[in-house]
Amino acid sequence: MRVVIIGGGYVGLVSGTCLAALGADVTVVENNPARFDMLCAGKMPVYEPGLEELSAKMRGTRRLNFVSHVSAAPAADIICIAVGTPARHGDGHADLSHVFAAVEQAAQHLQQPAIFMTKSTVPVGTGRRIAALLAELRPELAVHVASNPEFLREGAAIGDFMRPDRIIIGTDDPHAAGMLARIYAPLIKAGVPLLQTSLEGAELIKYAANGFLAMKIAFVNEMADLCERIGADIAEVARGIGMDTRIGQQFLQAGPGFGGSCFPKDTLALMRIAQDAGAPSRLIETVVSVNDTRKSAMASRVIAACGNAVRGKRIAVLGLTFKANTDDIRESPAMSLVQRLMDEGAHVQVFDPAGMRHARFQLSSGVKFHNSAMDALQGAHAAVFATEWEELSLVTPAQLQSTMAGRVVVDLRNMLEQDAFVRSGFAYHGIGRPSQPLSHDPKSVSISSAQIRLTA
Ligand code: UDX
Repeated sequence: MRVVIIGGGYVGLVSGTCLAALGADVTVVENNPARFDMLCAGKMPVYEPGLEELSAKMRGTRRLNFVSHVSAAPAADIICIAVGTPARHGDGHADLSHVFAAVEQAAQHLQQPAIFMTKSTVPVGTGRRIAALLAELRPELAVHVASNPEFLREGAAIGDFMRPDRIIIGTDDPHAAGMLARIYAPLIKAGVPLLQTSLEGAELIKYAANGFLAMKIAFVNEMADLCERIGADIAEVARGIGMDTRIGQQFLQAGPGFGGSCFPKDTLALMRIAQDAGAPSRLIETVVSVNDTRKSAMASRVIAACGNAVRGKRIAVLGLTFKANTDDIRESPAMSLVQRLMDEGAHVQVFDPAGMRHARFQLSSGVKFHNSAMDALQGAHAAVFATEWEELSLVTPAQLQSTMAGRVVVDLRNMLEQDAFVRSGFAYHGIGRPSQPLSHDPKSVSISSAQIRLTA
């Protein structure tokens, strides 16, 4: 099966590399010269654990190739659109200019009938618009359109591609559905369920899945706020509700609000899609505003923990990316937090294991960047743990005592052992946790029948 992927960004590179690993002959088209040169030199322009190694291996098999223009790509059975769909300025709609430009270019150079498959997250109805455009540009060729959304998490994308919960193929054309199923044959044989839907159904599944997960996070964050008021611990509450298999344990980690390149953009786009369709989603509208409010409330928490004033105080912010194991700082709660602390007059010292390169471009000039957590903590009045990097979660109270000037710790990811910090004299502020740890261990316990008889 010959696949041409247009767009050597995150989705295109992960999909291209993994499809090659599944046996397809893949050509990725990347028209940005700097990115193209990097790819040819065996370097990945995106940060994803394991991608560079797997991509090198696939290039070695010659099943993965890069070209700088679609005219240089070989004939293909499947043309996969994997270009960016950023939120359009001002209205939150997805910007589809790259998608339609890619379709037009590919149509121009099409040598034979092919299936156009969208992997980019596109608003409902885009597949039909692409089909109409193709019918206009190349009426002589039988070209079908399908939607094959991806559900890749940054930092875990290869595993998510190779062991997905499901494969969604949205098309009305049985031939196209069969061709697409063939590129996933090894996964389907291994038991991954395949769901065939309409084009519109597949397009909405992507937004609805992200919207639902975002809603789960917004919900657990609200419950965390409530826990703080009533003296409960959100870890226990999340565990207790997640034990209900209808709810599930995943995506119930309370924190500073969701960020990244997908949830904020996709919830906003879903909100607009629903409004435009005359079926507004009040739930998603609320998720968007609850999350925005939460992200800005994080700075107020830090300021309150510092005695309601940060002017002139040194504050260390550890972790800048929107979550661990990525270099992505887009919509990261940590980034808006740093900016607000600067605006309030604090001296902010930051460290992130992977996000510093991008953060330097975005943060105002006064921010001090450090090469390690220990350096960033030097002389700090307060330490804010903003992203759950493993190396940051291993920082000990003794290390903070030897570097910091103050004794305030704000743990926006509940990633530290509260007990140990409180015992060492720190004023510890977590999310949805009582300020003093509960006296019992929140892990499940098994109670023997003898004990039940005794207490009965
Ligand atoms: C997400 C979806 O998971 C993926 O299926 C989709 O295709 C792209 O968007 P990603 O943005 O990489 O993936 O990150 P994810 O791990 O889902 O986290 C998104 C945000 O939610 C992060 O800011 C993260 O910190 C936050 N989050 C996640 C929580 O606050 N609590 C949780 O329990 C889970």
